[in-house]
Amino acid sequence: MDIETKLKELEKRNIRAELGGGQRRIDAQHAKGKMTARERIHYLLDKDSFEEIDKFVVHRCSDFDMDKEKIPGDGVVTGYGKINGRKIFIFSQDFTVFGGSLSGAFGEKVCKIMDLALKNGAPIIGLNDSGGARIQEGIVSLGGYGEIFRRNVRASGVVPQISLIMGPCAGGAVYSPALTDFTIMVKNSSNMFVTGPQVIKAVNSEDVSAENLGGAMTHNSKSGVAQFAEDSDKDALDRVKQLLRYLPQNYRERPPRWDCTDDPNRRDKSLNSIVPTNPKLPYDIKKIIRTVLDDQDFFEIQEHFAKNIVIGFGRLDGRVVGIVANQPRFLAGCLDINASLKCSRFVRTCDCYNIPLITFVDVPGFLPGVNQEHGGIIKHGAKIIYAYCEATVPKITIITRKAYGGAYDVMSSKHHGGDINLAYPTAEIAVMGPEGAVDIVFRKKIQKAEDKETTRERLIKEYRNNFASPFKAAEMGYIDQIIFPENTRPRLIHSLTMLEEKRESLPEKRHGNIPL
Ligand code: HXC
Repeated sequence: MDIETKLKELEKRNIRAELGGGQRRIDAQHAKGKMTARERIHYLLDKDSFEEIDKFVVHRCSDFDMDKEKIPGDGVVTGYGKINGRKIFIFSQDFTVFGGSLSGAFGEKVCKIMDLALKNGAPIIGLNDSGGARIQEGIVSLGGYGEIFRRNVRASGVVPQISLIMGPCAGGAVYSPALTDFTIMVKNSSNMFVTGPQVIKAVNSEDVSAENLGGAMTHNSKSGVAQFAEDSDKDALDRVKQLLRYLPQNYRERPPRWDCTDDPNRRDKSLNSIVPTNPKLPYDIKKIIRTVLDDQDFFEIQEHFAKNIVIGFGRLDGRVVGIVANQPRFLAGCLDINASLKCSRFVRTCDCYNIPLITFVDVPGFLPGVNQEHGGIIKHGAKIIYAYCEATVPKITIITRKAYGGAYDVMSSKHHGGDINLAYPTAEIAVMGPEGAVDIVFRKKIQKAEDKETTRERLIKEYRNNFASPFKAAEMGYIDQIIFPENTRPRLIHSLTMLEEKRESLPEKRHGNIPL
């Protein structure tokens, strides 16, 4: 065979592989408003940067006459490339080939990419669109999933892992995304569940649609399984590009620092009046967050879940920071089970990837309730403690208003290793709110008083003036500085600069035992 013929043969095989399950199935994919596996990769990666690996791999199954149907690539496109000039590794499940179902060969392709990512210290991005285990391959497919899960765990905290759910993701297949750092779902075209609507109907006689059971908004607002819900494939892929801007390539590196045109010494008088003087009035903590960050740019994560706590990324003088903030607009900013899960997971994510933590505190306490107690608020709240105490990245805390009881301690207090703890003059740091404290300490005195209500009011006022302030805590050194709110941005940036070379290590151990 001459060289021309060989080149033509290669070209023909490439074209065949790139057609996946064929034009009919590609058209069906488009008709659902979905891009194909390759279109997704080409949209996400920098132009001409994608290098495909294992394009001609086929399955090895002969049961069910499968040896008569082999499609090069076998249902997953894998390789590496660049996003915004930075190296990444990627696999993209191809629903047009056997419904994107996972065979032994498919699993090996994904594992090869994950191994390369780990050895080369670069993020792994997985695009999921699959009918799950390839039924014809039986347990070989289960073995493939198991190998992927093990690599997900090995890679956890070493390189960022991002999952996109862009179609079905059912059964045990959901556990690979669940093990990664971030999960992004596409509204109305993706779903995730361990057991689908039909099984639930058969076993529990419950009627539920796939969307309601495991659609993007379900997992973003109810279960907390996913962090982002996007309108389309393109929006989901754009979200990955944004997210990567806040992450390092691996745990040894810091996230990229950007040129900052926003004055690091910028003060903002509006900050002086965002926190209402009436402690019962709510306000939007996101206003403070935005005002302080570079270019008012706040990249919120999990915005639909546990709205009583806000998490996300931003920059201060070009450095990436992770923001955690109680949100007084929802549940008065109380900590409940979901807020605890959201907060602690995020603190650990930041600590994995060298992202300093800025914690804005306005928390009246843990949410009271039988549901909360029976649901395990004790062990879930303990996760926040564990996460902050274990985190060795720079930790800066700023108490804007309430910091009461145990909730004061858990929200990155000095006692839990806060490096710099600041407070606004509006801060109220005490063992409990004035009303509760007075009712307990002065119960007898109030009962004996002629005018009970006036006496109670007077005592509450006295308690508020004497104890519900930041000054007692500042006297003890629990607060390093009481600041003018308008100076928040420069104070935070100076603190971050001071902490730039922070080094702290934990006692030697195999690993801790976080209350799960
Ligand atoms: C082999 C599969 C397949 C699978 C789909 N296909 N799922 N082939 N194994 N798991 C094939 C179909 O035969 C079809 O082939 C093509 O993919 C497209 O599927 P359709 O059903 O036509 O598409 P659609 O109507 O969009 O429905 C998609 C679907 C449905 C909801 C995903 O196919 C489905 O329910 N599949 C089975 C899901 C499932 O139960 N998987 C196992 C889960 S358990 P043709 O040739 O007609 O185009 C699991 C265990 C993992 O995954 C354990 C890990 C530890």
